[in-house]
Amino acid sequence: MIWTIKKGFYRIMHKFENIFVKRMTKKEPKLLIGPGIIKELHTAIKSEGVSKSLVVTDKGLTKIKIHDEMFQTFKKNEIEYVVFDDVLPNPTINMVETAKKVYLENNCDCIIGFGGGSPIDCAKIALALVMKPGKKVRDLGRFFRIKGDVPPFFAVPTTAGTGAEANFAGVITDPDTHEKFAVASTKLLPKYAVLDPELTLALPPHITSTTGMDTLTHAVESYINIIGDESSDEKATRAVKTVFNNLVSLYENGNQIEAREEMAQAAYQAGSAMVRAMLGYCHAIAHKLGGIYNIPHGLANAIILPYVLDYYGENAHKKLSELAIAAGIGGDTESISTLAERFIQAIRDMNKKMDIPSSIKEIKSEDIDIIAQAALKEGNPTYPVPKIMNLEDMREVITKLKSN
Ligand SMILES: NC(=O)c1ccc[n+]([C@@H]2O[C@H](COP(=O)([O-])OP(=O)(O)OC[C@H]3O[C@@H](n4cnc5c(N)ncnc54)[C@H](O)[C@@H]3O)[C@@H](O)[C@H]2O)c1
Ligand SMILES: [Fe+2]
Repeated sequence: MIWTIKKGFYRIMHKFENIFVKRMTKKEPKLLIGPGIIKELHTAIKSEGVSKSLVVTDKGLTKIKIHDEMFQTFKKNEIEYVVFDDVLPNPTINMVETAKKVYLENNCDCIIGFGGGSPIDCAKIALALVMKPGKKVRDLGRFFRIKGDVPPFFAVPTTAGTGAEANFAGVITDPDTHEKFAVASTKLLPKYAVLDPELTLALPPHITSTTGMDTLTHAVESYINIIGDESSDEKATRAVKTVFNNLVSLYENGNQIEAREEMAQAAYQAGSAMVRAMLGYCHAIAHKLGGIYNIPHGLANAIILPYVLDYYGENAHKKLSELAIAAGIGGDTESISTLAERFIQAIRDMNKKMDIPSSIKEIKSEDIDIIAQAALKEGNPTYPVPKIMNLEDMREVITKLKSN
């Protein structure tokens, strides 16, 4: 009885959330798209009239010299910059604090998040700290207001990917508690997103596959949620179609520039859909596994997604059947449940083809309860999912994930 009342309350919250999010998601970044477009970034920076940029990135990218072309154009066009490349996957509060310090010490007035979701999120949250002097990341809250004009923020994704370039949320880990959580403010939306597929050509196959599955998860979770609109549905559907058409082929041969460009756009579209229609329990669990065991975000999502879709069962069948048709794995003469189940199986098959395991061995039995409680705390009532989980349901899903 209490659970029924609680679920009813969550559904009322989701209705309010729909109104609130709709108002918050009208703006989009300016897009610079195409192979080699990174060499034009200096023009956009110049047009903002800034004097010094902080480039937030990671050492893996510095090592492969991925920034070199951009830096050459900066030097040629007299754009001053400072580099902070100490970001690691699943970035922590400390990294954000240091990035903010480097920004202030060098009198920067512009920030460039260059890399996968980790550097982009680190740049985004460092920007929040710059705008909120005296505040720590923990003080910001899940959703906060920023007063005044924010320095220009450029997002240059090198994975396809998190879609962090399309939204105003950043995900961060507290190294003391191992908690991974999101903070958001509309003013943290990048002013520009640079989608240059050439930057993703050097991605190793396992990062191509897992980051691509993150894109798929954003698209699927936002599409099947009970909020959203025509535009978010359309973006999510396009992203699903692109992932099904390109990802396995890119895993086998990463040197296909057109497919890379399509995936860069899909990541952006799915990122934009998720900010309007939100995420689901797959991400709630993935965030906890990232925080506790440092499991890469895309890998966690790829493995978890089919389990969560199984749990939603009939509540998600109609929407999943539509995605199955969009993905080209069924026709509208088949039953909704056949199509939905085929879609879930197709995700498992895709994982298998890309050597992604079907379970998460790192999960320890003694942690299941903690993970379940933390994932529910993130998911309920924030995520407007097709079927609401209670603690027992969540424990069951995590137990299956561990043992299959
Ligand atoms: N803000 C959001 O909306 C959002 C959404 C989803 C995920 N995230 C967060 O993003 C993070 C994950 O980001 P990610 O999956 O893009 O990976 P990542 O940024 O953590 O990078 C993973 C690895 O890939 C390497 N790499 C990145 N681009 C490369 C390239 N072009 N060539 C070679 N190597 C490259 C990096 O050096 C790194 O070692 C997680 O912390 C996740 O929680 C944020
Ligand atoms: Fe994600």
